[in-house]
Amino acid sequence: MTTALSTLPSAAPLLAVEGLEQSFGGVMALAGVSFQVPAGLIYAVIGPNGAGKTTLFNALCGFYSPSAGSICFEGDELLGLPPYRIAALGVTRTFQNLQLFFNMTVLENVMVGCHLRARTGLLAAALRLPGVRREERQLREWAHEALEVCELADRAEQPAGALPYGLMKRVEIARALAAKPRLLLLDEPAAGLNDTETLALRDLIARIRAAGITVLLVEHHMPLVMSVSDRLLVLDYGSVLAEGTPADIQADPRVIAAYLGGAVQYAV
Ligand SMILES: Nc1ncnc2c1ncn2[C@@H]1O[C@H](COP(=O)(O)OP(=O)(O)OP(=O)(O)O)[C@@H](O)[C@H]1O
Ligand SMILES: [Mg+2]
Repeated sequence: MTTALSTLPSAAPLLAVEGLEQSFGGVMALAGVSFQVPAGLIYAVIGPNGAGKTTLFNALCGFYSPSAGSICFEGDELLGLPPYRIAALGVTRTFQNLQLFFNMTVLENVMVGCHLRARTGLLAAALRLPGVRREERQLREWAHEALEVCELADRAEQPAGALPYGLMKRVEIARALAAKPRLLLLDEPAAGLNDTETLALRDLIARIRAAGITVLLVEHHMPLVMSVSDRLLVLDYGSVLAEGTPADIQADPRVIAAYLGGAVQYAV
């Protein structure tokens, strides 16, 4: 689904990553990664296991502290900021492994995401000041909106642990959306989903983009990636192997050799 947007030169990208480095002992998980994401795109990050995709997400969200480079988001430098500040600036994410509270309801799990946007302090919350109650109403409204987008509204009061796996993964997406991001990072949202759920996920990702949210998508499911993404970044051993449209990437002999192989089918 390549849009006209992806072919236009963009004045200022939403996200500009430059020379990002992150090592663990002797392993260079990110060995000087640079790329730019224009606003309004679905931008995929692919590559073999251990290529550095999740490490990149952890660096973008402030969970890791890269030793070099810069991460410019809408003019703000994210490097060195703690995760809650980065979320408040409009970058939220889902996790490769589910991070749900199984005993809490779906709505409660999603409201945890909204609290990243809360402005009132702990003391005001403890005293139940009027501003806090107003804010809680606002957060609840955002959570309900996110549940609507993810087609989970009818599940709001169910315990998250009682949902089928595919819907649990959607709750994670709803939580990340409830914080009203400008940039949403999805780490392997299709992992463990069946074909029907994967098709529904593709529609959901397209709806999220249509709502004006730029999406960074890490995914191994090539039919999904190639059909939904405007551009792709290919990582291999912590370095950028290629960057381009799905057509560019599928025809790139280096990417085929390192990752795609010869027998990948791209029809969904
Ligand atoms: N917290 C950590 N401590 C030590 N090594 C790590 C840590 N996080 C990642 N690594 C290493 O960094 C490299 C990149 O890992 P990463 O999880 O980013 O890969 P990935 O591209 O997300 O792979 P996958 O497709 O399997 O999820 C790997 O060699 C991994 O073992
Ligand atoms: Mg990963």
